[in-house]
Amino acid sequence: MTRTSEISGFYKLPPEERVRRVKEFANLTDDEASLLGSTGSLGLQTADRMIENVIGAIPVPLGIATNFLINGKDYLIPMAIEEPSVVAAASNAAKMARSTGGFKTSTTGSVMIGQIQVVGIADPNAARFDLLSQKDLILKKANEQDPMLVSLGGGARDLRARVIDTPRGRMIIAELLVDCKDAMGANAVNTMAEAVAPLVEGLTGGRVLLRIISNLATERLMRAKAIFSTDALGGAEVVDAILDAYAFAASDIYRASTHNKGIMNGVTAVVLATGNDTRAIEAGAHTYAARSGRYQPLTCWEKNGDGNLVGTLEMPLAVGLVGGATATHPIARISVKILGVKSALELGEIICAVGLAQNLAALRALATEGIQRGHMNLHARNVAIAAGAEGDLIDRVAAKMVEERRVRMDRAKEILQQLKGT
Ligand code: MEV
Repeated sequence: MTRTSEISGFYKLPPEERVRRVKEFANLTDDEASLLGSTGSLGLQTADRMIENVIGAIPVPLGIATNFLINGKDYLIPMAIEEPSVVAAASNAAKMARSTGGFKTSTTGSVMIGQIQVVGIADPNAARFDLLSQKDLILKKANEQDPMLVSLGGGARDLRARVIDTPRGRMIIAELLVDCKDAMGANAVNTMAEAVAPLVEGLTGGRVLLRIISNLATERLMRAKAIFSTDALGGAEVVDAILDAYAFAASDIYRASTHNKGIMNGVTAVVLATGNDTRAIEAGAHTYAARSGRYQPLTCWEKNGDGNLVGTLEMPLAVGLVGGATATHPIARISVKILGVKSALELGEIICAVGLAQNLAALRALATEGIQRGHMNLHARNVAIAAGAEGDLIDRVAAKMVEERRVRMDRAKEILQQLKGT
């Protein structure tokens, strides 16, 4: 039988039947097929309603970061991530921040930007004025699309427009500014942008093409600040070493990329745990980091008058509490309950604090003993498991590899053989 990936009506099949088809295609064993079907707390039917062509779910560990004191309130923070050491690092940094009052956060609000691209206008500057003169009309049309959001105090707030030069000529980019309140806002904003498009065409005489939210949520910035005392960090040399590490990131984009990756370890883990859109947050974060035209670290580190280290993080964080997977995924709902947040802004601010904590932990480790020692134990356990160790053999194989400083699959297998032999 020829194997083809062209399976007509695959989307219409029940998940169990899809699993059967994939099993056949990929020669999966019975065990592999049944593992696919066991989606745990998500439930196969719920997963099937969330995306298309579902055959299973891929569980990611959910850890709890402890010690977070944010604006005087204690939080336990759920983090969904496959990488060892991240949760421990966040918890450690949060502990260090406690003696100096923990994290202080703030926000610019929950306004998202919906972009409407208008092409084919001979006199775009004049057309822009015509468009802006009818701002009230456009906002009214936009707000008619979402009476619920408006009743909650949100809705389209402003209209702005720019003329941009492009390889295909000049265009008007109209932007709807929409207060999305507790929603991430993609649905509300996209609906509004589509609904006002005919009005925009009428007013400008141009043709509307794209109508879509921007993930560069510069009107939804979160800010977090914390002081880390010299004592908590381990001395004045550590403070200086962290400042040197930060200077490296501020002056070199290869380092800035990894610096920001460390921040995103914390950010994305909480975004995922709460069922929010990790890609939207990542896209916004990295674009924000490059907003000056040069990719920069998202955090800033300084020494205050007392010689303590002060960290700040400002980044767009468009997360929601209503709609999307946050509402449908049972574990995401529990994560939100553990956090005890009352608004999407509170959630965004917490995530910002976690990003800052994560960055501090990484910089401190890198600028002192290096990150490998902390990583090694968990990594060694993972390698031991991959080599086939089970039960108490996992720890015994891992401990031996760490002791020898040789954490490798071939060595894990050898040690496993030896231990099994004895
Ligand atoms: C690893 O996941 C993250 C770090 O590389 C971040 C950093 O280098 O700042 C440790």
